[in-house]
Amino acid sequence: MINILFDYLREQNIDGIFISKLQNVRYLSQYTGDDSYLFITEKGNYFITDPRYTEQAEQECPGFIIYNWREIGKTIPETLKKIIEGMNIKRFAFEGDYVDYNTYSELIKINSEAVPITGVIEELRSIKTHEEIHNLRVACQIADRAFERILRDIRIGVTEKELASKLSHYMVIEGSDTKPYGNILISGKRTSLLHGIPSNKAIEYGDFVLMDYGCSYKGYLSDMTRTVIVGKATAKQREVYNLENRMLEDSKKVMAAGVSAKKVYNASIEVIKDTEYYNYHYSGIGHGIGLYVHEIPFMSPKSNDILKENNVVTIEPGIYIPGWGGVRIEDQILVLKDGNESLTNSPRDLIEL
Ligand code: GLY
Ligand code: MN
Ligand code: MN
Repeated sequence: MINILFDYLREQNIDGIFISKLQNVRYLSQYTGDDSYLFITEKGNYFITDPRYTEQAEQECPGFIIYNWREIGKTIPETLKKIIEGMNIKRFAFEGDYVDYNTYSELIKINSEAVPITGVIEELRSIKTHEEIHNLRVACQIADRAFERILRDIRIGVTEKELASKLSHYMVIEGSDTKPYGNILISGKRTSLLHGIPSNKAIEYGDFVLMDYGCSYKGYLSDMTRTVIVGKATAKQREVYNLENRMLEDSKKVMAAGVSAKKVYNASIEVIKDTEYYNYHYSGIGHGIGLYVHEIPFMSPKSNDILKENNVVTIEPGIYIPGWGGVRIEDQILVLKDGNESLTNSPRDLIEL
């Protein structure tokens, strides 16, 4: 990875790059902890952290010189200043979207030109390697197994929060990293809340239960949504569910390397565009995913992104009717040269419990 970055630095006439976004730190160094920074140059790679993490960094990042910033400067940028001033660095880059004002104020005082960059590492990260695809695949398989388990617990009287905590537990015992990340588990009329959080509401007969959740495996994230129904679906619930399922299928039919996000969006709305439900769909129908949950490419009519081979993206059209409820089905998709493969494979047809 770092070698590709060197090509970029040379092209841009930049001598070093300060990395502060944690997912980018992990991507470039394999470090799995928190609160750490990199300074990457062709002359040497530096890892800046505090004493909680120095031993871990030594174990995980053998190509880096580890600096405990508390021993070197009062702040992280002051430590960087000392590193930079000991080298012949004329211009260095920093992540413009990931540096706070105080850090920025110190960076520009360094006796070397500070150049903001955005999205460079993210662009590299959007094309997954063989190993990253493996990790994402395993994360998705864990999510599928957790889905099988949670179905047995969904019944009248149990609360959304109880189910959400069981779902997290199932993911961990099925192999997820222990660090959880936010999960949506909502029911009944609450399912129209696009990002509703689990509440003390108890499940009732006739409720949709919408579960949008993910786990991580070696830091790589899964993201899947399934919506089930407790009892028998009404005609309208079935109609909305089947339209939503069709939106998902139609999106996948067109997904392949070289296809635009706009084309996928247009395919997704084909089945609802002349119905009342068009007014209730949400146009952000997916996103890249890897070490972070929402990353490029973004899938919406406003996006200019084009799918590339070995992108991993979610596809998650939805129909959300305020005061009535909503349905979302979300899969995580590996983009292939001539098509795609779903990494999440839990059943998509309506499940009536
Ligand atoms: N609907 C939120 C997400 O899955 O990204
Ligand atoms: Mn999701
Ligand atoms: Mn998603």
